[in-house]
Amino acid sequence: MYSGEGHLVSIDQLSRESVLSFFSQIEKNKSKGLEYARPVLQNETVVLLFMEPSTRTRISFEIAAQKLGGQTIHVQKEGSSLQKGETILDTFETLHAMGCKNFVFRSPRSEIQEVAEHFGKKIILINAGDGINEHPTQALIDGFTIWEKHQQLEKLKVAIIGDIDRSRVAHSNIRMLNLFGNKPYVSGPPELMRNLDAKQVHIAKNIDEAIADADVVMMLRVQNERKDIAFSHDDKYLQTYGLTQNRLKLAGQKAMVMHPGPFNRGVEIESTVADGEQSVILQQVNNGVWVRMALLEMLHKAAQ
Ligand code: NCD
Repeated sequence: MYSGEGHLVSIDQLSRESVLSFFSQIEKNKSKGLEYARPVLQNETVVLLFMEPSTRTRISFEIAAQKLGGQTIHVQKEGSSLQKGETILDTFETLHAMGCKNFVFRSPRSEIQEVAEHFGKKIILINAGDGINEHPTQALIDGFTIWEKHQQLEKLKVAIIGDIDRSRVAHSNIRMLNLFGNKPYVSGPPELMRNLDAKQVHIAKNIDEAIADADVVMMLRVQNERKDIAFSHDDKYLQTYGLTQNRLKLAGQKAMVMHPGPFNRGVEIESTVADGEQSVILQQVNNGVWVRMALLEMLHKAAQ
């Protein structure tokens, strides 16, 4: 999958073939178990530079790096010189001057491209969530989770529901599905779907149309913390736009229910659906470790 830049900034760097061979590699690794892990990151430090909250992304990268024998350092805005007004590039330069070469970066601003261009091949840089722009490792996790069940991403109906405009997860998933010639069905509150491209997605008339006979239903959290759009969900959100048990019947019993997390029970997803038999939410979390191990190993080897 390696594209030569030493970075994973966007799904656009990847080809369909490279994604498929990456998925096969992960499947092989999973079948061998965690003991397969070679200490390829021994004597390496992986910096987890997270300027936004995170549970699954940060911790799964941390576990992945440690399983590969690496050491991890967690840097966040609070408590670092970023809070004193240091620029992000100066923070990267400072850490690089201390010998750090591997960076996993999450920011509320879309700024990873600038960091990638500034450093070129001097560092390995992985996008762990770039403003509302992209979150490529989450899309690789979601794509792999679908592929594990269907052995394809092509001829499937995928519905993506909720706060599409502000979801970097949705943006990366749409790009990845498009790589496979798959145009997902999207739906959500109109205020949160103003920036869609009809070349990339089918804009469904309503959520029921998007979900009907879907193979995959991907739910998204309303990103209230991003203040750019004045939208707040009310008590009716679940019935109007959420995934209830009743609504899931439209998709059928074989549909996979996905959510990148964190999810808000009773807001975009009914609690019983999140915990139900069709939910693969925790499988997505588990695959997060495998995907991130394979990615760290691949980028590290390619940089040798
Ligand atoms: C998402 C994110 O941070 O983009 N979560 C994740 O990384 N799994 C989605 C969200 O915060 O709603």
